[in-house]
Amino acid sequence: MQTLVSLDDLADGDIETILEDASAYHADPRGHRGRFPDRIVCSAFFEPSTRTRLSFEAAAQRLGAQVIGFSDAAATSTSKGERLEDTVRVVSALSDAVVLRHPEEGAARRAAAVVDVPVVNAGDGVGEHPTQTLVDLFTLRQALGGLEGRRVAIVGDLLYGRTVHSLVPALRRFGIDVVQVPGGHLELPAASGHVPKVGLEEAAADSDALYVTRVQRERFRDPKEWEAVRGQVRVDRALLERTGSEAVVLHPLPRVDELADDVDALPAAKYFDQVRNGLPVRMAVLANLLEARG
Ligand code: NCD
Repeated sequence: MQTLVSLDDLADGDIETILEDASAYHADPRGHRGRFPDRIVCSAFFEPSTRTRLSFEAAAQRLGAQVIGFSDAAATSTSKGERLEDTVRVVSALSDAVVLRHPEEGAARRAAAVVDVPVVNAGDGVGEHPTQTLVDLFTLRQALGGLEGRRVAIVGDLLYGRTVHSLVPALRRFGIDVVQVPGGHLELPAASGHVPKVGLEEAAADSDALYVTRVQRERFRDPKEWEAVRGQVRVDRALLERTGSEAVVLHPLPRVDELADDVDALPAAKYFDQVRNGLPVRMAVLANLLEARG
């Protein structure tokens, strides 16, 4: 694996390898510091992040690599007008892999085209978020056993939410039945192919997993449009009980008001497992990329 911009960059076998390696790191996250002691990973975050950035940085350190980077683009030469391509050329000259988050769709692809170190897309605007999908697949397997023949309902902002843009094609590749419960008009883009729409009650009753996402406030040009759609779908304990739901509940986080706190105590709640799984999965991704580079 040379770079990870889209989940389409990975063959099924690559995904299997990462998930298997991640299981080994999950069982024993310590004890790998001798792995890449001479490598430097650059964490270049042009957009806010908590989980993704910290889990990449922790993963690099657990593999013995050093980390450089920034989490506030305003503190970089971007604020002087430097273009993404040039900033990435600079950081790639100083490191062995670049983990990039950027507000523009396609940014990671542009970055990968101008540098010869591996680039990991840690979220490009409304585009994709492939490592979140690897975390989601790992967590779904952990929670459900196998994936074959399962049904996953994706809920919330499916238009602007980049996590589902990577997740939906991946679920289909693994033979999972996918349905969507968009918040208002926030349906999956046409590029995702036909994904049947169902109501929230039906999704809760009939799915093996509910994958809930927040309305992506920062992607709306008009705040009134955001006000109109926020809160249109909400998963809470009453919904799960009323529908006799046996679904596990995932969410990439952060949550706002689409997922109630009263779900947290239920065995169905798997979103904090997703956070924990970010570390071993990102260890597997980084190890794979650094190894391929030699
Ligand atoms: C997501 C993201 O940044 O796309 N967060 C994450 O990485 N876990 C989801 C979101 O911001 O809603």
